[in-house]
Amino acid sequence: TILVLDFGSQYSHLITRRLRELNVYSEMLPCTQKIADLGWTPKGVILSGGPYSVYWDDAPHVDPAVFELNVPILGICYGLQEMAWTFDNKNVLAGEKREYGHAYLKVERHGDGEAGGHVDKLFADWEDNTEVWMSHGDKLGHLPEEFITIATTSNAPFAGIGHKSKKYYGIQFHPEVTHTPKGKVLLKNFAVDICEAQTNWTMSKFVDQEIERIRKLVGPKGQVIGAVSGGVDSTVAAKLMKEAIGDRFHAVLVDNGVLRLNEAKIVKETLTAGLGINLTVIDASERFLGRLAGVKDDPEKKRKIIGNTFIEIFQEEAKKIAAEAHETSEAGEIEWLLQGTLYPDVIESISFKGPSATIKTHHNVGGLPKDMNLKLIEPLRELFKDEVRELGMNLGIPEDLVWRHPFPGPGIAIRILGEVTPEQVRIAREADNIFIEEIKAAGLYRNISQAFAALLPVKAVGVMGDKRVHDQVIALRAVETTDFMTADWYPFDGAFLKKVSRRIVNEVNGVCRVVYDITSKPPGTIEME
Ligand code: XMP
Repeated sequence: TILVLDFGSQYSHLITRRLRELNVYSEMLPCTQKIADLGWTPKGVILSGGPYSVYWDDAPHVDPAVFELNVPILGICYGLQEMAWTFDNKNVLAGEKREYGHAYLKVERHGDGEAGGHVDKLFADWEDNTEVWMSHGDKLGHLPEEFITIATTSNAPFAGIGHKSKKYYGIQFHPEVTHTPKGKVLLKNFAVDICEAQTNWTMSKFVDQEIERIRKLVGPKGQVIGAVSGGVDSTVAAKLMKEAIGDRFHAVLVDNGVLRLNEAKIVKETLTAGLGINLTVIDASERFLGRLAGVKDDPEKKRKIIGNTFIEIFQEEAKKIAAEAHETSEAGEIEWLLQGTLYPDVIESISFKGPSATIKTHHNVGGLPKDMNLKLIEPLRELFKDEVRELGMNLGIPEDLVWRHPFPGPGIAIRILGEVTPEQVRIAREADNIFIEEIKAAGLYRNISQAFAALLPVKAVGVMGDKRVHDQVIALRAVETTDFMTADWYPFDGAFLKKVSRRIVNEVNGVCRVVYDITSKPPGTIEME
C-alpha cells in the first residue's frame, strides 16, 4: 500500500486514481495523520500538493515520523516544499511569479556517482524536454544540503530534487494530471520500481474491501436506507450494499410522475428480479403533479417543489420501513443513509483538517433529509464515473444500465418548458422515448453524453393528412461532454434527424414540429430549464 498524505490540492485524488490504474493499492489520508496511529506500514509515501505556503504560520505540516518510516517518499509541489522545509527551513522562497501551465522538463542524470544511482530511477524512461504541468506559487530558492537536482525547467532550477542517500524525491510539477503525459510513468517508477509496491489491486479487490468495510461500519444488525433513481451511481451503490448486508439495505424508488417512459417499472424489474435488491417503489405521481399544477414560469420553483416533496415522501417511507423491519426481524434501527456520491461530486477538495471538514455532498438523488439524523454511507466517494461503471460491470449490473445517460432529479418536469400536466408529461415522454430508441438503434448512445426531448410551450401550424393542425413543438437536445461543465451539441447527420422527426410527428399526438437545439454550453446549459 502506498500512503498518500493530502495537503488539499484539487488534484490529490487523481494520485490515488493513477495508482489504481497501475493496479497499486493506495490510501489517502489527511496530511496531519499521525503515523503512530496508522496501524500499518506503507511501502512508500506521497505528499500531495496543496494551496498553502509552507512558511505560513497556519500551514499544515506532516508528522515528522514519516521520515522515520524508512520508506521512499515523493513530494509533489507543496509536498516538495514540505520536504525541503523539513530538511532546511530557510530554503523555500516564494516564487516571483506564479507558474501555471505547461513547462518542459530537462532531466539531470547522475549515474552511479554521488547519489548511489537511486535518484535516476524516478525519471527512468523519460526523455529530455518532456512536457509537464505546473501549478504553484512557491519554488525552491536553494537546495537543502542533502539533496541534488534531478530535473529543471527554464523557470524552475529545482523542478526535481532527490536525496543523496535516501529514497526521497521532490517534484515541482503534477505527474497525476493528464497534462503531464508521462506522469503515469513517473508514478510507476516511484510506486512499483522504487517502493516495490505490489501491482495486484483490481476492481474485484475493491469490491471485497468495500463490502468488508461496510459490514464493519454497519455492524451485524445495522440497517441502511437509500433512494435509488435507476441511474448508474445509485444502482451500483445499492448493489454493493445488497452484497454487504443483504435485505438490511432498504432501497426506495419514489415515482414522482416525471420519470422517463415506463421508468419505474423497468427500474423495479432490474433491481428486484435482476439484482435481488430489497426495493420499495412508491407511486407518488399524484402528489407531485398536484403540486406542480399551475407552476409555469419559474423552473427553480419546479425544482423546489420536487425536491421538498421527495424529502417528505422519503421520510414517511423511511419511518414505515423502520417500524416494519423492527417488528419482523432482529434488525436494529435504521441509522444509515446511503448516498451514491462520486468523487467529482465532492466539490471542494479535502482540507487538511480532515476529510469531513470541508466536503459538501452532492444532492443528486433528491437531496439529503437533514433532520432524519442518519449517518451517511458513501461507498463510491473515492471513485470517478468510469470506475463506477467498471465496478457496476463487476457487480453484474446490466450493461445497458451501466452506460445510462444521467437524468436530473426533477426529471422531465424541467424538460417541459411550460406547465407540467399529465398530458404534457405524456407528450414529452413519448417523444423522448422515440429519440433515445433511435439513438440506440443507430449505435450512437455511447458517443453521446446526454440526450433528451424537451417540450416547448408554443404551438405551430402544420399540415397532417390534408388537415391544418395547430400543435406543439419538440426540441431535441444531445450533447457530448466529459465533465458536464462545458458541452457541445452532437453533430447528427441529416438522415438520422429526418427519421427521428418523422417518427415523433407521426407517433406522438399533439406534436407537429421537431427542432434540434444547436447551442453549446456555455452559453446554453444542458437542460433547457
Ligand atoms: P446543466 O443544465 O446545468 O446540467 O448544464 C448539467 C448536468 O446536471 C444535470 N442537472 C440536474 N441534476 N438535479 C439534478 O439531479 C437538477 O436540478 C439538475 N439540473 C441539471 C443535467 O441533467 C446535466 O447532466
